[in-house]
Amino acid sequence: MPLFRSKEREAEQVQVDFDRLPRHIAIIMDGNGRWAQKRGLPRTAGHAAGAENFRTIATYCKDIGLEYLTVYAFSTENWKRPAEEVKAIMGLLKKYLLEAIGRMERDRVKMEFFGDLSPLPQELQDLCRRTREISKGYDGCQVNICLNYGGRDELLRAARAYAQDCVEGRADPNHLTAEHFAGYLFSRGVPDPDLVIRPSGELRLSNFLLWQSAYAEFYFTDVLWPDFSKEELHRAIAAYQSRSRRFGGI
Ligand code: FPP
Repeated sequence: MPLFRSKEREAEQVQVDFDRLPRHIAIIMDGNGRWAQKRGLPRTAGHAAGAENFRTIATYCKDIGLEYLTVYAFSTENWKRPAEEVKAIMGLLKKYLLEAIGRMERDRVKMEFFGDLSPLPQELQDLCRRTREISKGYDGCQVNICLNYGGRDELLRAARAYAQDCVEGRADPNHLTAEHFAGYLFSRGVPDPDLVIRPSGELRLSNFLLWQSAYAEFYFTDVLWPDFSKEELHRAIAAYQSRSRRFGGI
C-alpha cells in the first residue's frame, strides 16, 4: 500500500506506512471531563463524546487492518468518581455493546474484556459475556476493553493464581518464565502493545498495562480524547514508525 499523506495537515507531512503498522495499539482515553468543561457541559457529555470517538477510532483501526486495539474505559480507581458519573459511563458501555452485538456478524471484530467484571451492573456483565461469546471465533481486529481494570490488580490476581497452582502442584516456581506468568494475566494470548497512546497532556501510565507495556513505544499529545481524530492517530503511528526499537539490544 502506498504511503498515506493526511489531507488536513498536509504541511506536517504525516506519513503512515500501512505495511508496517504496529500489531497492537493501546489507548488511555483521557480528557473527556476537560473537553466537556471547556464547552460548559456536564462531564457526562464528555464521556458521551469520548464513547462516540471510540466508535470512530475502533472502526478505523479495523478498516486499516490493525490486529489488536486495547482501550482503558474504566479503571479500578474510577469507582471513586461521583455515582452519577460512574452510572453514565456504565450506560455508555451498555449502549455501545448493544450496538456492537447488532453489527458483529458484519464487522467480524473480536471483543475481549480485561478486568474483574464482577462488580459491574449485572446487565453489563451479561452483555460483556455475550459479545465475547458471539465474537470469539472472529478473525477481524481484536478490541480489548479494560473495565474495572488496574495493572497492579491484574498482577496481584496473577500472582495469587500462580501461587495456588504451585501449592497444588500444577506449577514449579523454579521453572517460572515471563511467558508462563503472562498466561495468568487478563491479556493472555494477546501480544504486548507496540504503541501506547495517551491524549490530554498527562504524562503517566495510571496503572494501565504495567506488565505488557515493558517495551511499548509511548505517544503523548495534548489533544483531548474526544478530539483525537484519525489524523491524530496517523501522527501517533508515524511517530512510532520513526523510532528504533531495540528491546534491550543494540
Ligand atoms: C478519562 O477521562 C475517561 C474515563 C475515565 C472514561 C472513559 C469512558 C468512555 C470513553 C466512555 C465509554 C467507553 C466505551 C468503550 C464505549 P477523564 O474523565 O478522566 O477526563 P479529565 O481528566 O479531563 O477529567
